[in-house]
Amino acid sequence: MSISTIRGTQGDAGIGRSGDGFVLEAVEKSFAAEGRTTKAVENFNFAARKGEFVALIGPSGCGKSTVLRMLADLDQPSAGKVLVHGVSPQVLRRAHAIGVAFQDAALLPWRSVEANIGLPLEVAGRTGSDRVAHLIDLVALKGFEKARPSHLSGGMKQRAALARALVMQPDLLLLDEPFGALDDLTRQRLNFELQRIWSDAGTTAVLVTHSIPEAVLLADRVVVISPRPGTVQEIVTIDLPRPRSPETLTTPEFHALCDRLSRALFAGEHQAANQP
Ligand SMILES: Nc1ncnc2c1ncn2[C@@H]1O[C@H](COP(=O)(O)OP(=O)(O)O)[C@@H](O)[C@H]1O
Ligand SMILES: [Mg+2]
Repeated sequence: MSISTIRGTQGDAGIGRSGDGFVLEAVEKSFAAEGRTTKAVENFNFAARKGEFVALIGPSGCGKSTVLRMLADLDQPSAGKVLVHGVSPQVLRRAHAIGVAFQDAALLPWRSVEANIGLPLEVAGRTGSDRVAHLIDLVALKGFEKARPSHLSGGMKQRAALARALVMQPDLLLLDEPFGALDDLTRQRLNFELQRIWSDAGTTAVLVTHSIPEAVLLADRVVVISPRPGTVQEIVTIDLPRPRSPETLTTPEFHALCDRLSRALFAGEHQAANQP
């Protein structure tokens, strides 16, 4: 059974008008700290389709997490407009329709795997042990339902965090370097699992990553963000056929896209370094 069967509606995953997923329009975000103002994000414009998989890449400190936090309603823009599925992120967050997984899996150490995954349901006052069991199956943690996080490997913790992010069948899935701390092989396996889960769920997804191959493997479009203040420097459409497989990684098309993105990233950093 897929997540879409549980939620009962598949929606128009991947199709639809540009912008019916989320819209960032002239978004600016400044932080005031210790008498100084840091402009993290400036004139940020991007629109995603419902069901689209978007990857954000850019140098450290360019505002990737800030953009994600504004989509999650964990931060407010200083100027501009953020809309997700046509409403403000606040409306969606209050409806528990945003799933978030960050680099640090942030599982509660005293709770079992299943109790961690089911936590958002409890918070929302809903039940759903079937759904928790299904997700445990989906992220390949069967047999570890009762285990505490300290008994799990890094990859298993991230899979549990991913399942927790999905338990409310979110309209929007936000992933901030979720596999950053893992070894390459585990990371690649999780990338393929994530692709399968996302395509089953039909959710709009945003992935922040430092890995160009990870972005190319998963995304429909990759947004290259300039050094701070972060703005959209380039948008690269990844037109590789789906589902993408380990063979995809060996194709000339895959390598050409990786090269193109690494040139774009380098160009942005070079420009910033040469600014007066
Ligand atoms: N809460 C905050 N207070 C002050 N400055 C912040 C805050 N959050 C982020 N920043 C600053 O905003 C910039 C962008 O941060 P962030 O979005 O975390 O970058 P990235 O995720 O791309 O590495 C950085 O210079 C960071 O120091
Ligand atoms: Mg970050």
